[in-house]
Amino acid sequence: MSEAPLTVPLAPFDVPRHVAIIMDGNGRWAAARGLPRAEGHRRGVEALRQTVRAAGELGIGILTIFSFSSENWARPAAEISELMGLLRRFIRHDLAELHASGVRVRVIGEREGLDPEINRLLEEAEELTRDNGKLLLVVAFNYGARQEIARAACRIAAEVVAGRLDAAAITADLLGRHLDAPDLPDPDLIIRTSGEQRLSNFLLWQAAYSELVFVPIYWPDFDRAALEGAIAEYHRRERRFGGLVARTGS
Ligand code: FPP
Repeated sequence: MSEAPLTVPLAPFDVPRHVAIIMDGNGRWAAARGLPRAEGHRRGVEALRQTVRAAGELGIGILTIFSFSSENWARPAAEISELMGLLRRFIRHDLAELHASGVRVRVIGEREGLDPEINRLLEEAEELTRDNGKLLLVVAFNYGARQEIARAACRIAAEVVAGRLDAAAITADLLGRHLDAPDLPDPDLIIRTSGEQRLSNFLLWQAAYSELVFVPIYWPDFDRAALEGAIAEYHRRERRFGGLVARTGS
């Protein structure tokens, strides 16, 4: 499938251009209320809807969400099936509205081995929205950063074997250009909810200079105010990208 021309919306002056979110704590949110974990995931989808809306309103250009990790397959079959069902329902019910509000959807992660119906829905979402430019919603699905880097290494190795690339020409920049979405700028801000303070195999390559903000609330409670709070924290940080002088990300 050919890529549509890159239209990364530019964020207004004081909003990070690319925000990525680890939506953590659905299970604990439910447990704290004596509810089944599935209810936490369902409320998580509602928080996601609110967050996508808020991101568009705030003028964020790119929102990347960690919706199913390569490691989530280790969960009980019933929970995996619930998460797959939520993705199916999210695309079926929300795609028209996302499209109408100018959201472009892209998906990163391993597609091979996924249920063909899920793959069809992911492709439909990408295809329908490919010309939209208000907000780019990057869905990391069946995604793991180490696996993404290994895929990039495989693509590069294939070029070397085919004689199109000299192994000595492999640089960090070249590897970055073989990742799943090489045309996108790295996230300026990565938010993780639930109070856990780690990346859990999310965007490891792209996070080199991202600001990390850990929010002590469970994902179902995340809303526009929490997003604005994380952005305010981002603004208190000074980004130097290895140099001595503070710079902006874009
Ligand atoms: C973490 O909570 C969240 C996930 C495993 C996936 C995030 C999924 C959603 C927000 C809903 C699905 C959305 C789409 C678009 C498919 P957790 O279960 O790890 O919580 P815990 O750490 O408290 O157990």
